[in-house]
Parts: sequence; C-alpha cells; structure tokens
Amino acid sequence: MSHPPIALITGATSGIGAAVAGALAARGYCLLVTGRDCARGRAAEQDLLRAGATAVTFLPTDHASLEATDQLVEQIRSHTDVLDLLVANAAVMPLAPTRTSEGLEPEITVDVLGVTTLVDGLLPLLSAAPRARVVLVTSDAATRFPVGIADDPWLARRAAPVRAYAKAKRWKMHLAAAFAEELRPKGVVVHAASPGPAWTSMTRALTRHALGVPAPLWWIIRAVQRTQRPERAAGCVVRAATDPALARCTGQLTRGKHQTRPIPTDPTIAADALTAARRLITTSRESTPKPAADASSTVTRATPHGAPRRPAD
Ligand SMILES: NC(=O)c1ccc[n+]([C@@H]2O[C@H](COP(=O)([O-])OP(=O)(O)OC[C@H]3O[C@@H](n4cnc5c(N)ncnc54)[C@H](OP(=O)(O)O)[C@@H]3O)[C@@H](O)[C@H]2O)c1
Repeated sequence: MSHPPIALITGATSGIGAAVAGALAARGYCLLVTGRDCARGRAAEQDLLRAGATAVTFLPTDHASLEATDQLVEQIRSHTDVLDLLVANAAVMPLAPTRTSEGLEPEITVDVLGVTTLVDGLLPLLSAAPRARVVLVTSDAATRFPVGIADDPWLARRAAPVRAYAKAKRWKMHLAAAFAEELRPKGVVVHAASPGPAWTSMTRALTRHALGVPAPLWWIIRAVQRTQRPERAAGCVVRAATDPALARCTGQLTRGKHQTRPIPTDPTIAADALTAARRLITTSRESTPKPAADASSTVTRATPHGAPRRPAD
C-alpha cells in the first residue's frame, strides 16, 4: 500500500517556507509545519489543505530554543515512524548581538544547532523511508562572506548583522555536506538550497546598516528584493526536495531554476563543523537546567492530526 509522503518544513507559515509548503501541498504531501505565531500557523493549515495537502499539522515551535526543538522531535517521533522529507528552512537575522534564554546566538541556534538536533533526532524516521531527503536552506551570503565558524562576526566594523547571518548559513552549508556523507550509507539524500533574494518579512526588516553597503547600492538591492516573489525563490528548494534526478546523488547545492553543483566545501571542514555543532549542543544541554516537572509551558503543544500514523514499510 502506498502512502502520501510525509514532510516536515520548518518556518513554513510565511515567506519562502510557506511557498515550499504550498508546492508540496499541491503534490499531495502530508505536511508538518512549524513557526512561532499560532494565528499564522492555523491560517497556514487551512491554506495548505486548500492547496491539496493530504493532511497538515502546525506544530508551534521556537527553533531558537534547543529544548523546544527537542520537544518537536519527540512529538514527531510519537506521531510517525517514517519521515520522507525534512526541509530546514527557518532562519533569523538579528540586527544586534543577542542571546537566547539558553545563552546561545539565535541565528546559530536556529540554523545550525536546531537543524543538527532535527536531523540527528529524526534520523530513525528518515532511515525508515524508502527514499528520504533532507534539504537545508542556505543563502548566497554563505559564500559571499568568508566568515569561519570560529570567527566572531559582531567584531566587524561594517555589516556585522549580515556577517553573523552569513556565518550561520556557511556553517549550515558545511552541515549539509557532512550529513550528505554521513547519511549516504542509510540511503538518505541531503542537499542544500540557496534561494535568491525574495521580498519576505526577513528582507523587509533589513536595514542598510545590517548590510553595510553605501546608499546607492542599498536602493538597488531593495529594488531587486521587492520584485522577487517567495514562490520564485522557493523553486530551488522544491527542486532539491522533489526532482527525481536529485534522488540519485547527494550533497548538491541548488540555486535558481536550473543551477545544481556539489556543495562547495572541504569534506574535512564540513565534518569538523558537524562535530562542533554536536559538541555545542551537548554543552548547552549539560549547562541548561531542566525545567521543574510541574512548570507550565508557554507554548501550547499541538498534537499532529489528520494523517494516520504511518509505520515503517
Ligand atoms: N528572503 C530572502 O531574500 C532569502 C534569500 C536567501 C535565503 N533565504 C533563506 O530562506 C529561508 C526563509 O527565509 P524568508 O525570507 O522566507 O524568512 P521569513 O519571511 O522571515 O519567514 C521565516 C519563517 O520562519 C518562521 N520562523 C522565524 N523564526 C523562527 C523561529 N525562531 N522558530 C520557528 N520558526 C521561525 C517564521 O514564522 P514565525 O515568525 O511565526 O516564527 C516564518 O514562517 C531562510 O532560511 C533564509 O535564510 C532568504
């Protein structure tokens, strides 16, 4: 008996993630989608069902909290034994240096530590799917700004916010390459996707200071961003997730309508980047006190619904 494929898309309630979810809904996927805002999440559920999804569940999650991402993993594991697709799309770009309640940089927590937690935690489900894929959404910033994962981008005199974002995206690109190698024997394909510019809440919130560019260039960048729809930018993510030609290889970077090339990273640096992410997660877990058993959560956990539990084939 064939089942509709099950996909988890993080940050799928607006922007590029919503466009990716819409394209997968039209292909009949069962969708699990995350975001922080519950009203947007409920609206996304209705939109995606109308777009053709077999089932949709919004799982409110703040990926800037490792504990919340851990809870999400548990929730999904108790809902299904199989996951066909994971699209790690959610990202943040703080305009000033900040720390999460766990003492971590939010951009690194969402794009690096959260993603590592998801892939590691959901691996048994991905391995159980016949042709599972993982797509990590990165950005051209990852290659444009050579910020090493040990660098402090906030020390830069110019463009510190975009450098901090670029560091997270570069690290995520290394993760994609490292996971591609690590998961190859398990039959799980891992790609990175780099959407071009799109007019979304992330770009709307940008400032000239964040990019560190002179005024004339800033206005050109804004003009380009304003004309680009998230649906168009989402194309390379959907291609990495669904193109049959990309099921036969792993470790590719998709960009635009047609560009596909191996993820541009050194295998040793990529493996070290994954090790560093796992080490940081372990250190954070050890140093973050566990909440008291009766502490009430501020996030209402939703139970995945609509899709029957799918056992491993
Ligand atoms: N837009 C561009 O020009 C561009 C270019 C290259 C790459 N990208 C990449 O494309 C991806 C999507 O970007 P976008 O521009 O579509 O962003 P966006 O418009 O800001 O949308 C982000 C989505 O993620 C959710 N989200 C944000 N922070 C979250 C958190 N801490 N926990 C859970 N969900 C969170 C948002 O919902 P809530 O606010 O409700 O949480 C929303 O659904 C990102 O990885 C970005 O780096 C974007």
